[in-house]
Formats: sequence, structure tokens, C-alpha cells
Amino acid sequence: MSELPGLSRLVWILKAADCYFPRGESLIFSRIALESEMRKIAVINQKGGVGKTTTAVNLASGLALCQKKVCLVDLDPQSHASLHLGVTLGPNERSVYDLLCGDSSVAEARRAVSDQLDIVPANLDLAAAELELAGEVGREVILRDRFEAEVSNHDFMIIDCPPSLGVLTLNALTAADEVFLPLQPHFLALHGLSKLLRTIEIVSKRLNPTLKLEGIVLCMYEASTRLAAEVSRDVEEFLVSNSSQSPVWASARFFQTKIRRNIRLAEAPSFGQSIFDYAPNSHGAEDYLALAHEVLESDSKRHSNSQDSIAFSSN
Ligand SMILES: Nc1ncnc2c1ncn2[C@@H]1O[C@H](COP(=O)(O)OP(=O)(O)O)[C@@H](O)[C@H]1O
Ligand SMILES: [Mg+2]
Repeated sequence: MSELPGLSRLVWILKAADCYFPRGESLIFSRIALESEMRKIAVINQKGGVGKTTTAVNLASGLALCQKKVCLVDLDPQSHASLHLGVTLGPNERSVYDLLCGDSSVAEARRAVSDQLDIVPANLDLAAAELELAGEVGREVILRDRFEAEVSNHDFMIIDCPPSLGVLTLNALTAADEVFLPLQPHFLALHGLSKLLRTIEIVSKRLNPTLKLEGIVLCMYEASTRLAAEVSRDVEEFLVSNSSQSPVWASARFFQTKIRRNIRLAEAPSFGQSIFDYAPNSHGAEDYLALAHEVLESDSKRHSNSQDSIAFSSN
């Protein structure tokens, strides 16, 4: 700060105190845009059964509980996220399939689960998308374009991905800015990880430069086992040893919150409820709320970083 002339220093202090309106309106608008910018998170792992859907649904519900407006996108033809929240589609109701393969808007396919939580549901039709889009130009960016065409008041978009790296997952990677990777501490946890990282890297280079691997969520964690600690250490070492190769996962971290194995989490989907409605006092609810808080903490860090950079950029 010492090199700032007197006026700039005053401006900086006033802005830090949140009471400065800059020359013209552009900065005000850019601040509003930053403050209302939606975080777009894809929950991805090409393995099945590692906790993607459980994490997407309960993180979305946890953030909604924290008064954030969340849109969950079910991008898996198995439609587990939709079923988890008790959403089934009637014959003429729109789904994420109609966004990708038809001409529906997000607003037409989206429905409210609660005041704070919306879902763009899926059904088995989505299984045909891969084939139907095979010859389509720009098929990897359809979801992104559909969301960009929307004026949205959501704070978060969370995409539950299928267990594959096909066109659906590519659509998630181009629509999102962040990847959350749920990992089950298992001796095969690292298997396939480099392929996934490579896919994220290619998408970031060719289609979506803002994309990065934000963090790893350990799911079905059993603190009492040595395996859990060993796998966590192996994955951490893997990321550190590969981080110099790509900025895409250089800042990836393990979320401090570990999602413990909890039978209530496994029971909740059959009641069509999030863990917070089904068993609010369970370890599962405790862990996913802690994860939501952790995600919101990183949100406020981003804000203070972006406000710092705004403060300096106008000088
Ligand atoms: N922390 C957990 N404790 C107990 N069961 C879990 C937990 N997380 C997920 N499950 C269960 O494990 C199975 C696979 O989880 P799911 O989230 O559907 O994985 P994916 O979406 O990666 O295929 C589901 O039956 C789910 O209910
Ligand atoms: Mg799933």
C-alpha cells in the first residue's frame, strides 16, 4: 500500500469499508455481478457407488438450509438424484433430456423441491442422449448454453454426473467452473483417477478455461480403519506429485469434512428425502451440513479475494 498516492489510498480504504461508489457505474455493476455470481459445481467420478449422488443431493440440501438458492441438475439417466428428492416425472413433463436433445429452456424443466432448492430432473430418456447427440456440432456445450440463456437467481448450481466420461459428463464439465470429486477410501480409489484428471484438463484447455478441480470429498469414511488413512495419503501424494503438470488441479484440496459411513444416508433415498428431512440428527446430516459450511467458507474467501482485486484494479 505504501506506493499508493494519497487519494488512491483513501479510495481503497473507503472501498474496503464497503461505502465507495466509483467513477461511473461499471464497477458497481461488476461488484453486483460478482456478488450474485452463481457457483457451478460438477460432482464427478467415473466410478459408480462412490457417493456422487448422495453428495450432490445432500450438499445441495445443506446449502439450501443455509439460505442459499440452489439448482440441482440430475445428469444421470438412472435419475437417482431426482428419486432421492422424491421427484418423478409424468408423461409430458420436461427433464434435462429436453434441454439437451430438445428445445426446452431451463425454466421449463426446472421444478421446486423447497423454497431454496430447485431441481432439473432426469429420467431414463436421458440414456438415449449419448446416441442422439452423436452427430451434433457443439454437443458438449448444450447444457452451458441453456443455463447461460437463463436469468438466474441461484447461488449454486450442482450437477450430479453419471459414472462415465461420455457426452453427459462433458456437458457437466463445460457448464461448471468447479469439480468436486467424491472418493471412497478403497484400495482401487486411485484407479482411473489420472484418466479423470486428464479429461478435466483437456476440457479446461479446449472448452472451458475456468474449470478446475476444487476438492476431494471423502465419502463412506471409516475413521477406525487404516485403509482410509492410507488411501487419503496416497491420493494426496498423487495430487502433489502431479500438480506441477497442470494448473487445473494444482489448487485441489481435501475437504476437511469427511462424510462418515452412516446407514441413514443409505436409507434416505427410499423415502424421497434429503438427509436433513429424513434424519436431521444423524451423523450424515451433521457431516453434510459441515461440508456445506466449508463450501460457503471458501465462497467468502473468494469474495474477499475478488473485492481486493477490484479495490486494486480501479487504481
Ligand atoms: N456416507 C455413506 N454412508 C452409507 N451409505 C452411503 C454413504 N454415501 C452413499 N451411500 C450409499 O452408497 C450407495 C452409492 O452411493 P451413491 O451416492 O448413489 O453413489 P454414486 O452416485 O457415486 O453411484 C448408495 O446406496 C448410497 O445410499
Ligand atoms: Mg449416482
